[in-house]
Amino acid sequence: MENKISKIVSLAKRRGFIFPSSEIYGGFGSSYDFGPLGVEMKRNIKQLWWQEMINNHDSVVGLDAAILMNPKVWEASGHLSGFSDYLVECKNCKKRFKSEEAKNKCPECGGELLKPRKFNLMMKTFVGPVEDSASTAYLRAETCQGIYMNFENVLNSMRLKIPFGIAQIGKAFRNEVNPKNFIFRTREFEQMEMQWFCHPKQANKWFNFWKKERINWYLSLGIPKKDLRAVEISAKQRAHYAQKQVDIEYRFPFGWGEIEGIHYRGDWDLSNHSKYSGKDLKYFDQESKEKYFPHIIETSVGVERSLFAFLINAYEEVKGGRTKTTKAVKEAEVVLKIHKKLAPIKIAVLPLVKNKPKIVKKAKEIYQTLKPHFTCLYDQVGSIGRRYRRIDETGVLLAVTVDFQTLDDKTVTLRDRDTMKQERVKAEDLLKTLKEKLK
Ligand code: GAP
Repeated sequence: MENKISKIVSLAKRRGFIFPSSEIYGGFGSSYDFGPLGVEMKRNIKQLWWQEMINNHDSVVGLDAAILMNPKVWEASGHLSGFSDYLVECKNCKKRFKSEEAKNKCPECGGELLKPRKFNLMMKTFVGPVEDSASTAYLRAETCQGIYMNFENVLNSMRLKIPFGIAQIGKAFRNEVNPKNFIFRTREFEQMEMQWFCHPKQANKWFNFWKKERINWYLSLGIPKKDLRAVEISAKQRAHYAQKQVDIEYRFPFGWGEIEGIHYRGDWDLSNHSKYSGKDLKYFDQESKEKYFPHIIETSVGVERSLFAFLINAYEEVKGGRTKTTKAVKEAEVVLKIHKKLAPIKIAVLPLVKNKPKIVKKAKEIYQTLKPHFTCLYDQVGSIGRRYRRIDETGVLLAVTVDFQTLDDKTVTLRDRDTMKQERVKAEDLLKTLKEKLK
């Protein structure tokens, strides 16, 4: 199964999804760059999440807070004292691990381990020209602190009432001891977080509500039930701010792994920020005249981690090739059956041959017509079979092929990625047909 990961890593690079960062200098730790297809897929994930959380729910509004904040935020949030991992080092090979990943001996060489040491995960930087403690700042370790900083601003400017939510997408940074499994655990990543502010008595109800909503989101985007589970995390293993925590896990080839956390943070954040800042962040209910700290239910998902799960879920290898019409024994062929809403490229336009100017001209004309409506690619290099293989590997949903018959009757071939079925469609109806299919 681990083999599947190396195949996906290689495909991700070959087809323009994900590249190692600063590769010509030998890469940089766990940093990755998203190529032309990767960035489209990431945009789709973020747009679908935004649409789900904000458009499909009442009383959730958006925010885009700064990455750099007053360092007191991280003191009050408990991150400077409590956001740590225990690190162990192997005496023999000197490799470092999170202590929970290396119980008694080194997982790499079996060597003896040194005593665990506490290691804070916050990434430090300096603001301004002097590198001293007064200028120390931190790259945010979770996006939600920017939401708490703006709780009052949003409440007042939008004239909201409890319960309501604030959603945000943005970069987060953690000085992870042991980044691993490709883009599963990196030091720089993007989070999509929603903080739901509610009455303490309603918190349990809302926790269950959001847990269900979030699980349904993955199911609606093609992750099968059997590869998804919700795990309640014990008090000992919970994040320092959580009173209750359910992790939504995906069955990765290397085992079950968290893709999203649902956290009941109680009044941890607002009461601490009140205490540290001296600003009263309690909510006053005009009707009941009750004044209280709203309790927070958080949904928090990593963009890259969910993208990884969607990629793995989509990857299918067909031994001996997909087409059974020829007797020739072929190598394994790959098809990325990415959900249509997530697929980075929706349509490929292909002239059957590249040496017939009329066919090429028509194909280019169709490509230009479709481009403003869908993410499209145009490809005339190689045999048509090869090109179909190539677009199957990149998850392109539909191929429009312009052939000799097009010149006679103004129809084109439409090929479906998943079924490989082909149908003829009138060129003049193409846009309408594609819009219908991709709805
Ligand atoms: N605000 C709550 C919070 O940050 P978390 O469980 O630490 O909770 C939420 O992180 C999600 O962010 C995880 O489920 C995962 O998808 C993503 N994430 C966390 N650390 C990550 C890392 N080092 N690399 C990639 N994604 C990460």
